Amino acid sequence: MRVAVLGTGKVGSALGTKLASTGHEVLYGSRNPSDVAGTRSHRDAVEWADVVITALPGTDVVAALDAGGADVLGDKVVLDPSAAFTAEMAMAYPGDSVAQRVQARFPRARVVKTLNTMNFTIMVDPMSSLAAASVFVSGDDSKAKSVVRLLLGDLGWPEESVLDLGGVETALATEHLAPLFFATARALGTPTFNFAVSRAA
Ligand SMILES: NC(=O)c1ccc[n+]([C@@H]2O[C@H](COP(=O)([O-])OP(=O)(O)OC[C@H]3O[C@@H](n4cnc5c(N)ncnc54)[C@H](OP(=O)(O)O)[C@@H]3O)[C@@H](O)[C@H]2O)c1
Repeated sequence: MRVAVLGTGKVGSALGTKLASTGHEVLYGSRNPSDVAGTRSHRDAVEWADVVITALPGTDVVAALDAGGADVLGDKVVLDPSAAFTAEMAMAYPGDSVAQRVQARFPRARVVKTLNTMNFTIMVDPMSSLAAASVFVSGDDSKAKSVVRLLLGDLGWPEESVLDLGGVETALATEHLAPLFFATARALGTPTFNFAVSRAA
C-alpha cells in the first residue's frame, strides 16, 4: 500500500519505518519538507497515498488536512493515532474527539482511530514484553477498518488483539483514556505498557 505519514516525530517515524520494512511504500509529509530528506508537503504526500496516517498533535490534525486540501484527501483511509491536549495537558476536546472532528470536516474520508492508547514503541512492537495486548479500532467504514487491520497485522498485532469498538464516535472513549494512560505510566515508572481487555469466560 502507499502510506502517507503526516508528521516526522516519534509516532510518524516509528510507524513509517515499520510499515516500510514490511513492504509498504511510505512517504512522509512534513511542514518543512526541505528540512528533512525524503519528505514532501502534506498535500503531495496525501495526493500520492492510499492511506494517510495523521501522526500530528491532535489539535493540529484538522488544520493540517485542511491545508493539504480536501480535494486530494477525497475518500482515502485516514488512520488517526493522535491525541489532543491543551498546553496544560488536559483533554482539548471534552465530549468530542479528533477522529470525529476529522470525519465531520471531511465527510468523504474514511477515518479510523487506532493505536492512540499506547506508547509509540508499543505501536510497532506490541508483543515485545506483553503476554496480552489490545488495540482499539473506531470508524464508520468497514472496508477502511479492514485496511487498517491489515496494517496493524504488519505492525505486529495479532488478529485477536484487535478490538473493533464500532463507529467513529467510539474514538471519544479511547482518546479519553489518556489521563488513565499518564497515571498508569507514573505508577509503573515507564510508558512502555499496554492496556489489555480480558473477557470473562
Ligand atoms: N509519542 C507517543 O508515544 C504517542 C502515543 C499515542 C499517541 N500519540 C499521539 O500521536 C501524535 C504524534 O505524537 P508524537 O509523539 O509523534 O509527536 P512529536 O514527536 O511531537 O511529532 C509530531 C510531529 O507533528 C508535526 N507537527 C508538530 N507541530 C505541528 C503543527 N502545529 N502542525 C502540523 N504538524 C505539526 C511535526 O512534524 P514535521 O516537523 O515534519 O511537520 C512533528 O514532528 C500526537 O497526537 C500524540 O498525542 C503519541
